[in-house]
Amino acid sequence: MAYYCYLMRCADGSFYTGWTLDPHRREQQHNQGRGAKYTRLHRPVKLVYVEEQPDLSSALKREKAIKKLSHQQKEKMALGWQDKMEISFADLTVVSPGRVNLLGEHVDYNDGLVFPAAIDREVTIRVGKRMDDVVYLRALDLGEEVSFSVNTLDQKIDIDGQPLPTWALYPAGVAWVLLQHGLRVSGMEAEFTSNLPMGAGLSSSAALEVGFAVVWEVLGDWDLDRMTLARYAQAAEVQYVGLNCGLMDQFACANGVAGHALVLDIRSLQWRPVPLPAGYKIVIANSMVKHELVGSEYNTRHQECNEAVEIFQHHLPEVHSLRDVSLQQLLTLQAEFPENVFKRARHVISEIGRVQQAVQVLEAGEVKAFGELMYATHASLRDDYAVSCREIDILVEIAAGLPGCVGARLTGGGFGGCTVNLVREEAVAEFTRELKQQYLERTGISAAIFPCQAANGAHVI
Ligand code: GLA
Repeated sequence: MAYYCYLMRCADGSFYTGWTLDPHRREQQHNQGRGAKYTRLHRPVKLVYVEEQPDLSSALKREKAIKKLSHQQKEKMALGWQDKMEISFADLTVVSPGRVNLLGEHVDYNDGLVFPAAIDREVTIRVGKRMDDVVYLRALDLGEEVSFSVNTLDQKIDIDGQPLPTWALYPAGVAWVLLQHGLRVSGMEAEFTSNLPMGAGLSSSAALEVGFAVVWEVLGDWDLDRMTLARYAQAAEVQYVGLNCGLMDQFACANGVAGHALVLDIRSLQWRPVPLPAGYKIVIANSMVKHELVGSEYNTRHQECNEAVEIFQHHLPEVHSLRDVSLQQLLTLQAEFPENVFKRARHVISEIGRVQQAVQVLEAGEVKAFGELMYATHASLRDDYAVSCREIDILVEIAAGLPGCVGARLTGGGFGGCTVNLVREEAVAEFTRELKQQYLERTGISAAIFPCQAANGAHVI
């Protein structure tokens, strides 16, 4: 642990000397009147000098020595530090998009194929470099802040030893994974804001993870290919946050290509961008419903898929994942499966087939056929995978009856969240109005409905 001696310049020009574990946080405390009696009476204060000490007793000794210096000597120290900071502080802004999944739901942790697109809704992270190992984060939309040291990531605690708030687990988890891979992770000050609805199935968590991975890449002056970066971000979510997710979200946030959806084969990690059809828009409808237990239900589905693989393996030892079996093989062995496990497997196997077909029809310009596959996916998620809910089903049902809509379905993990709709461009305005109105009439809820564009992956601006 590092200790710091510091100088604050007070409102009347005088200096206050102290020691701390986190100089920037200490500055805030002084300004909130929670630092010392002297600074409380001479606010606002500004941090003008920091010096690292190896241990507490050296910090206390040095604090005493600085206190004895003349005002002029302190002024000199402050000026020298200011010059140094101006050189080493780098302002950096990173934008990291959410994603919408067009097809291939709950197949990424089954070695399947997915077809997501990064979207023009994103997390924006503004960063200042700092000299120590402390990460200070401010979540602007939540009005919350936290500081933690990159040396105590294992314990998931902040600088005061308190458990990290849930939102901070995403960046902290990324730092933890990066360190395990021997990459430099520096302290920083960052604030972030998002125009992506949180927890609505548009990958706000992956956007945060990938965004912070890019921030540390720039600050640490190392370079990772985007697939590896996405895999590290996924590892943060699985191993640190505890959601046993697949790779799709982090992949899409890291690799998005404007105007395109991305077809990714999770088994080979081969992928390519596929242009979105001209004359159509992707419209997202947020049901504004969020069901608890998303994480535990998600992990249960993952577990049920593993169970299905084990049952297959009794008969077909060469099977490693549901990617390796056909619907016919499932039907032949149906009697061996508990009903829920049979249904989960039927969804996964049929969904992988739908993605293969969907990419072909889209590239052949058969947009209607693509839309039919979206409806089929929704039915499968609702009936076999059991991850939909009443409000989402209502959104899909209404959309299916509206002019210009060729396909609609639940997108993302489920249990609330959003639907994705493919709508003829000229019909978008009326579609949006009608969907909002009819959903309100049937549920009493005002949905947020917006068209989106396929965007580029996370980048520095
Ligand atoms: C969440 C997960 C993804 C994926 C989807 C469902 O978004 O993070 O890995 O499994 O659910 O397709």
